Amino acid sequence: MTAPMIHILNGPNLNLLGQREPEIYGSETLDDIAAACQALGAELGLDVVCHQTNHEGALVEMIHEARHAAQGIIINPAAYTHTSVAILDALQAFAGPVIEVHLSNIHKRESFRHHSYVSARADGVIAGCGTQGYALALRRMAEVLG
Ligand code: DQA
Repeated sequence: MTAPMIHILNGPNLNLLGQREPEIYGSETLDDIAAACQALGAELGLDVVCHQTNHEGALVEMIHEARHAAQGIIINPAAYTHTSVAILDALQAFAGPVIEVHLSNIHKRESFRHHSYVSARADGVIAGCGTQGYALALRRMAEVLG
């Protein structure tokens, strides 16, 4: 049996992890997260592919690609979480499980971060667990797709 494919999609400014506001987002880089997720995926019997973009339309297209290529999506839409109906609509067209991840606890921060368009589609939401949030999301994917 082939391993379920999980696409981990990261939105704007997350390419700067490790350099960007480390007191909020930590010292690990996106490459560190991708490597840890791939290693954990292998342990859990999941294939893991990671993508990042700073562009809203590109994130929409990554979600479209996942419709054919992935069984599950783990997404940190970053600032587009709070603004993008287009990303919500794209996720509504994806059939499998979607888990929304935020490194920081968006509910403990400025009020404009408290609302997430993506949460209207997400099957699970993890916020405030730092980079461990991606690992928790993968464990959940293994549970629901296993
Ligand atoms: C974030 C939270 C968002 O509010 C912010 O715009 C980000 C990162 C997080 O992972 O904590 O860029 O999604």
